[in-house]
Amino acid sequence: MKSLQLLSFLLLSYIIIPANTDGGKKKEALESQSQHTRTKKDQQNFATKFRLYTDATKEDCQIFYNQLETLDKCSFNASLPLVIIVHGWSVDGILEGWIWKMAAALKSQRKQINVIVADWLVSAHQHYPIAVQNTRYIGQEIADFLEWLEESIQFSRSNAHLIGYSLGAHVSGFAGSFISGTNKIGRITGLDAAGPLFEGMSPTDRLSPDDANFVDAIHTFTKQHMGLSVGIKQPVAHFDFYPNGGTFQPGCHIMHVYNHIAEYGITGIAQTVKCAHERSVHLFIDSLLHNDKQSTAYWCNDIHTFNKGMCLSCRKNRCNTLGYNIREERLPKSRRLFLKTRARMPFKVYHYQFKIHFINEIPGKRIEPTFTMSLTGTKEDAKNLPITLAESINGNKTYSFLITLDTDIGEVIMIKLKWEGTAVWENLWDTVQIIMPWTKGTRRPGLIVKTIKVKAGETQQKATFCSQSIDNLHLYPAQEKTFVRCEDRFQGQNRK
Ligand SMILES: *[C@@H]1O[C@H](CO)[C@@H](O)[C@H](O)[C@H]1NC(C)=O
Ligand SMILES: *[C@@H]1O[C@H](CO)[C@@H](O)[C@H](O)[C@H]1NC(C)=O
Repeated sequence: MKSLQLLSFLLLSYIIIPANTDGGKKKEALESQSQHTRTKKDQQNFATKFRLYTDATKEDCQIFYNQLETLDKCSFNASLPLVIIVHGWSVDGILEGWIWKMAAALKSQRKQINVIVADWLVSAHQHYPIAVQNTRYIGQEIADFLEWLEESIQFSRSNAHLIGYSLGAHVSGFAGSFISGTNKIGRITGLDAAGPLFEGMSPTDRLSPDDANFVDAIHTFTKQHMGLSVGIKQPVAHFDFYPNGGTFQPGCHIMHVYNHIAEYGITGIAQTVKCAHERSVHLFIDSLLHNDKQSTAYWCNDIHTFNKGMCLSCRKNRCNTLGYNIREERLPKSRRLFLKTRARMPFKVYHYQFKIHFINEIPGKRIEPTFTMSLTGTKEDAKNLPITLAESINGNKTYSFLITLDTDIGEVIMIKLKWEGTAVWENLWDTVQIIMPWTKGTRRPGLIVKTIKVKAGETQQKATFCSQSIDNLHLYPAQEKTFVRCEDRFQGQNRK
């Protein structure tokens, strides 16, 4: 973890500190250039290239602002929706590989669509603070471009969807707020919107829900170093998704650094730091490629509550779908949604809340047992799942936790709960027996497992399980117990 922090720090310092002195001059040059754009609108002064993706040839076709014939030449179809992909800050001055993957994925999901890549590399391949200033000018250019489409070929801005990554998310936000008139752009998706110089800024100075009819955001790399994080932490959309809590992503850990360095040389460091940042992009692409594996995310206050399995409700629109197929719903306040994912595509996992009612029969003795659980489903089984309770077991209480599965096991029909007893525990149990000498024939004190309640996030199904042998509720170290569906035993009782 230490090395990872160092890497992130290096990248952040590289991002934040303008290294050489000609930065100032470049900045002035860009500022005057962009003022030029404002007054005399023609393509010569545009820093942005609008490259229409054409799937047939795998080459793109550039559309020039104010040159109608280029729309014809590129076969832009004004009656179809438009997605504009906006990249982020560039270290090496070349378009990143994910951009064309995203374009291809959009086409594969919806053939009836125009996909344009807004190439602003010239202004993005700068020291970070300068690239940040340029986001406004590029936003203005995209706004100008959309206004031109509207005036010249009656293409409605409400049919436009901007997908911006990192700094590109804020570019998209500026496009949305700078476009003239009262109508807004249809949708903006912010993929791990950049944090440094945007975090904590007023909504007009960053991506915000006001920038389009609907705004969604995915936060994947908000781990903080020296008060800064690569991705923005605060909510910036109508729905803000925080996969795995949003701080860091599975599969991006330090062990992989060496693979990356082996594969990419020293730029492997950048690859590694980018891993969690760029995960937002791949989650979105995943939502396009795997129609049958759409990831659901759930409204929750924070990741700790989510990790206890307490937020898996879809009532009153509390959950939503991550990515392209999100349910577009405007809310007065940003909603933070959480989910777990796998380390690679398809990222979807199945979320379950388990609530186990334990009674610890040894008074005053806190128990921190290790359990494993095996589930039998209608489609598949899941074996030996480790369970970590956030707290030790004491007294008479219900414990709630989250379990995620990579596969769809169907409806859960049987649970096996095993107390992974260690020698220490067995010993303790013997000691307890000696201290409290039980009369002959009396059982040892143990853990009573009354019921196990299961709620599946993805199906919203609930079920209650009871011990298979109704007269034997005790669980001892190294013992395994089987639980079966027992809703009928509770019939007639009030159930919450
Ligand atoms: C534009 O798309 C519409 C809707 O799919 C289609 O009917 C029409 O033929 C397309 N126009 C051109 C010029 O391809
Ligand atoms: C556990 O608590 C419930 C109510 O909170 C009570 O009805 C039950 O008798 C308690 N069981 C034991 C063994 O203390």
